[in-house]
Parts: sequence; C-alpha cells; structure tokens
Amino acid sequence: MQISLVGVNHRTAPITVREKVAIRSVELHHYLSLLRDHATHGIILSTCNRTEVYIANRDDHDTGETGLSFFQTHLNIPSTDLTRYAYVITKQKAVAEHLFRTACGLDSLIIGEYEILGQVGNALDIAEKAGMVNLPLRHLFQSAIRTGRRVREETNISKNALSVSSVVVDLATRVIGDLSNCRLLIIGAGEAGRLVAKAVRDRGTPQIIVASRTPDRASALAATLGGSPVDLKKLVRELITCNIVVTCAESPDWILDVHHVTSAMRQRPELPLVVIDIAVPRNVEPAVEQINNVFLYNIDDLTEISEANRKQREEEITGATEIICGELDKLAAWWQALETRPTVSTLMEKAEAIRSAQLDKTLKKLRPLSQEERDYLEAMTKSIVAKILEDPLHYLKNNTDSSDDNDKLIRQLFQFKVEKPE
Ligand SMILES: NC(=O)c1ccc[n+]([C@@H]2O[C@H](COP(=O)([O-])OP(=O)(O)OC[C@H]3O[C@@H](n4cnc5c(N)ncnc54)[C@H](OP(=O)(O)O)[C@@H]3O)[C@@H](O)[C@H]2O)c1
Repeated sequence: MQISLVGVNHRTAPITVREKVAIRSVELHHYLSLLRDHATHGIILSTCNRTEVYIANRDDHDTGETGLSFFQTHLNIPSTDLTRYAYVITKQKAVAEHLFRTACGLDSLIIGEYEILGQVGNALDIAEKAGMVNLPLRHLFQSAIRTGRRVREETNISKNALSVSSVVVDLATRVIGDLSNCRLLIIGAGEAGRLVAKAVRDRGTPQIIVASRTPDRASALAATLGGSPVDLKKLVRELITCNIVVTCAESPDWILDVHHVTSAMRQRPELPLVVIDIAVPRNVEPAVEQINNVFLYNIDDLTEISEANRKQREEEITGATEIICGELDKLAAWWQALETRPTVSTLMEKAEAIRSAQLDKTLKKLRPLSQEERDYLEAMTKSIVAKILEDPLHYLKNNTDSSDDNDKLIRQLFQFKVEKPE
C-alpha cells in the first residue's frame, strides 16, 4: 500500500494560484467522484490555506503521479504552475507527518488555529460518504485528528491563539485606528462570517451589518450581534455608509466588483473604505484596489501579523513536535502490523495445514488412541509449530525498517503468495 499527497498551500503558492485550485465544500463530492477515475481511494482537504489530495493505492501504482494528473486534469492548473507551486510527498511517513502537523495547526497561516481540526474531520467524513476511504487512509486521518486534539490539550499552542478573524480585526484596527465608531459590513454568514462577527463584536464595533446569499442566515447572524441584515443585491447602498467590509462567502464569482465599489465611492469620495477579503477564491475583484481611497487586502496580507504569532509560539511548536513524533511511531507500528498481517496469517495457516495433515497420517498408523492421548498429541504438535514460528513472526512484526524485504523473504522461503490489503 502506498499513500501519497499532492498539494498547494499558503507557503508554496499565492492566493492567485490557490483560488484556482480551491474546492468549495459544495463541490467536494463531485471532485471525489472525479478522483475515483484516478485512484481507488482518496481524500481531498481544501481550506483557505491549502488544497491537498491524499491518495492510497496498491504499491505498483505511482500515487504521486496520480495526484499530479488529478490536479492538472480537473483543477485546471498548468503543468508549469504545478511544478512551481505544488508539493508531492510519496514517503508514507512524510505524508503522515505533514498531515499531523496540519491537524495541529502548525502548517496554518495562524499557528495553532482550531478550525483546521474540524476541516480535517470534515474531509474524512465527506470522503467516507463517497466510499473513497480504505482502512489505512481512515486510520491516518483519525490518528491526525487525535494528534491535533492532544497537542491542543497538552501544549499551549492554541491558548489565546489568534484566528483568521482576530487577525482581520487587528488589520482593520491598524488601518482605521479606533473601531468604536465604525460601521462594518460582513458578507457571508457561514463559519468564517460567524467568527469575524464574534471578533469584531468583542472589540466593541457598534454597528455590524450582515449580508449573505440566504437572507435567513444573514438575519440569524445579525440577530446574535444586535446588528442588522441586508440584502446581498443592495450592497452599493450599504457600501456608501460603511468603513470596513469583510468578505467571506464561498462564491465562485466576485461578489464585489469595480462597478459596485466605484458607484459607492462616488457618494463618499473623502471617506476611506477598508475591504478585507478572506475568501478563497476571492470575493472581491482585485482591480478594486485601484479605486481612490479604497484599501483592499486579501488573506495573504494577513501573513505579516501571523508571523508575530509564530514567533510567540516557537516553544509550543517544540512541545507539539514531540507529541507528533510519538504519534508517528504509533502509526508506523500500526502500518507495519497491517502490512505484515496477510503474510503472518498465511504462514500460520500453511503451518497449521501441514501440522494437522501430518498428525492425521501418524494417527492412522498408530493403534486406536484414547481421546485424552489424541488431545496430548494435538497440543504438543501445535506447540512445536508455535515455538518454531515465534521468533520469525516477532522479527517480521517488529523490524519496520526493512519490512517489504522481510515480507518478501518469508514468502519466498515458505513458498506462498498473499493478497495485499487494498
Ligand atoms: N472557516 C474559516 O475559519 C475560514 C478562515 C479563513 C477564510 N475562510 C474562507 O471563507 C469562505 C467561507 O468559509 P466558511 O468556513 O464560512 O464556509 P461555510 O461555513 O460553508 O459558509 C459558506 C458561506 O458562503 C456563502 N455562499 C456559498 N455559496 C455561495 C454563492 N454561490 N454565492 C454567494 N455566497 C455563497 C454561504 O451563504 P449562505 O449560507 O447565506 O447561503 C455562506 O455564508 C471560504 O472561502 C473560506 O476559504 C474561512
């Protein structure tokens, strides 16, 4: 069994590339069905920081190539961009290490952020429903989630952790200064919208307006903030009076374009407008940046603030890495047992077949024995076989470094073939 990973993330690729390969949650099922044409088993993890495809296949398939071809064919990324921005990890342990670090929030823009743990679990659940998960992939993801939880419980990595939403508010404060007289518009009432709303409310922003595709969702979020909902189709009217706009909708198209913002700015040319677009793909047409008195930021612009967060958490990263190493060892032992299980059980079955056949032959040549005598012979022969196999099986199960070679040698020595697990 081989597990590989192909991905693009915030460290390897800018938003302009990440947004092309981002898979929205509503599209995940569709993309998993496309992945099925390339691999029997796979999981897609697509968040604002990354799009990654984990693939499990038999040893004779090149899973790295499979992942690359999936990216190229279905995510419309040219091969030159793929070479430049994508990472391919084909060593199973390195794949696990990457996923464990990701689940722990060490690979996030905001170190220790919580959201990624739910996103890893969600990626597993959706792939399970699509029938794309086999035992090794499931165990890999479940181990990553357990590691992510342990790191958050046993270190201070997430204590007072920043989140994208709190960094958004920090950025707005840097640009505008005091937020207490600001009118803030949030576009998107999903999880990100909720987190941003909470962060701005906690900082005392008095006037919060929410727009979302589904009016009821906008109303529900606005109600929790003492704010008001607005119609997504009437954004220009709202832009005229706003100081800050945060966009976080999972829309495939621009929600705010140059036309909208220009129309609004004509009514308020002197008043600056800060637009922070944290959606991936972006919700705001990049040319909006050219409009006078408009200050447009995207999720990559949060990097500077998040770097300070990384420095503060250096010590916790060391503690988290120790937990990750221990969990990786446990996973390696599990993989080893899984890989050797067919060889071990076939060898034991073969030995048992020989033992019972030989015992039958012998019993036929002897005088009729009592049941007690037959039981003694049965127990003795079983114990001889178990003792002979004990050391080789122990060696096979515990020598993980050269497991493939050992497995092959045993099969050659004892002359049998095994079906490897899917
Ligand atoms: N969650 C985070 O921590 C986080 C952090 C940083 C960035 N982001 C980015 O923020 C965006 C939203 O993420 P989320 O976690 O909030 O997702 P979510 O909980 O699934 O919510 C999706 C949001 O997108 C809106 N939406 C979906 N399809 C739309 C369409 N075709 N047109 C207009 N609006 C549409 C939904 O509106 P209705 O519900 O009103 O229909 C909802 O507000 C994503 O681009 C994500 O990458 C998320």
